[in-house]
Amino acid sequence: MPSYIKINQPQTSQENKARNWSVNTSLGVNYKIVESKDLFAIENRNLLFLDGKPSKLPIRRLVVIDEKVYSLYREPIHEYFDAHAVELRILPLPISEPEKNWGAVERILEELDAFKILRRDEPLIAIGGGVLLDIAGLAANLYRRGIPYIRVPTNLLALVDASVGAKTGVNFQGYRNRIGTYYPPLVAFLDKTFLRTVDTRQICNGLGEILKIGLVKDRELFELLEKHGDLLVTKRFQGPGVPDLVIQRAIQGMVEELEPNLWEKQLERLVDFGHSFSPVIEMRALPELLHGEAVALDLAFSSVLAFQRGLLNSLDLDRVFKTMKILRLPTTHPLFCKPALLYEALEETVKHRNGLQRLPLPTGIGSARFFNDVTFEEIEMAASTLKQR
Ligand SMILES: NC(=O)c1ccc[n+]([C@@H]2O[C@H](COP(=O)([O-])OP(=O)(O)OC[C@H]3O[C@@H](n4cnc5c(N)ncnc54)[C@H](O)[C@@H]3O)[C@@H](O)[C@H]2O)c1
Repeated sequence: MPSYIKINQPQTSQENKARNWSVNTSLGVNYKIVESKDLFAIENRNLLFLDGKPSKLPIRRLVVIDEKVYSLYREPIHEYFDAHAVELRILPLPISEPEKNWGAVERILEELDAFKILRRDEPLIAIGGGVLLDIAGLAANLYRRGIPYIRVPTNLLALVDASVGAKTGVNFQGYRNRIGTYYPPLVAFLDKTFLRTVDTRQICNGLGEILKIGLVKDRELFELLEKHGDLLVTKRFQGPGVPDLVIQRAIQGMVEELEPNLWEKQLERLVDFGHSFSPVIEMRALPELLHGEAVALDLAFSSVLAFQRGLLNSLDLDRVFKTMKILRLPTTHPLFCKPALLYEALEETVKHRNGLQRLPLPTGIGSARFFNDVTFEEIEMAASTLKQR
């Protein structure tokens, strides 16, 4: 109870004296992000473990999976769990941003009940992109006030972003992730071989979030994208060397930002770069814009704002736009040319950031600062520059 609240309660007698209790506890958080290639190779036992220990027999698992991913990996998945004599129940879900809603959470909750899952020893396994992982994480958090779950990201955006943090959520009343929780998994297993079946546009979608990290805090990562972006797209991150380095640096950057601020007590967050104007725009543009594309447009727009303020020089601004082209990310969109809508989007973000803009803007490639005083006129000017570009 805050110390400034004084509670006066009548005291009748010594025996009947009113008392106050204050409960203080803390929640230790420990989860792992583990690279594990060929997750469904029979000899890879990662999915059978529970907190690093072999599971008790018989092993039972409920798997929630993106319907499309299931259609691509049905055979290896069944072969794997059959080979290890796992009692398996699979719930394939249709996945898209409009389907990221409460109904999908309920569907998983029903399945958890039907499977009669053990509260501690039978982690739910979530396999898919960012949408599937966010929905499944929320269901795992709500069922019996929290059961363990494992994240298996299958596209680039989920691999470098949606798997790394603690957030779960679904869209609500037309707003992105308006309901959700912080609920980290036991572990996220990263298997980049899934990227072989991801289409080019979805690879570029993930590159939007990687570019964000490069631009605000990791110049070397930015330069890797600048130099090797084309190959990363065409080879879908397969093979050793640069692809692994790029994934690892992106995750390292994310972890560095998230770990000290997992519950977002501090609302100035570098990882919010690219997420200041885009949340509202992305929902307005559905299903046309993918998440990483909306983030990329926000990066472009914010970079122009930074240039106008003299934070970014014209050479660096050009490099940003050129790299975005190499990564096949959009640099302009009709909705990003509408100042009134952009201002409305920023006002919505101000509410999310508790009354201040806390807008991260690049101050060169690989660094950024926060600002609270961006005006409508600046937005108008940046929108018209973006249109011309
Ligand atoms: N929790 C977090 O910290 C966090 C972070 C970033 C993004 N997100 C959320 O992630 C969502 C966006 O994620 P997304 O872009 O992955 O969207 P998504 O989950 O809709 O996946 C995009 C597409 O990739 C396909 N796909 C996935 N794996 C595939 C594979 N191996 N082969 C072929 N196709 C495959 C899916 O079927 C889908 O069509 C947003 O809702 C965002 O809010 C959450």
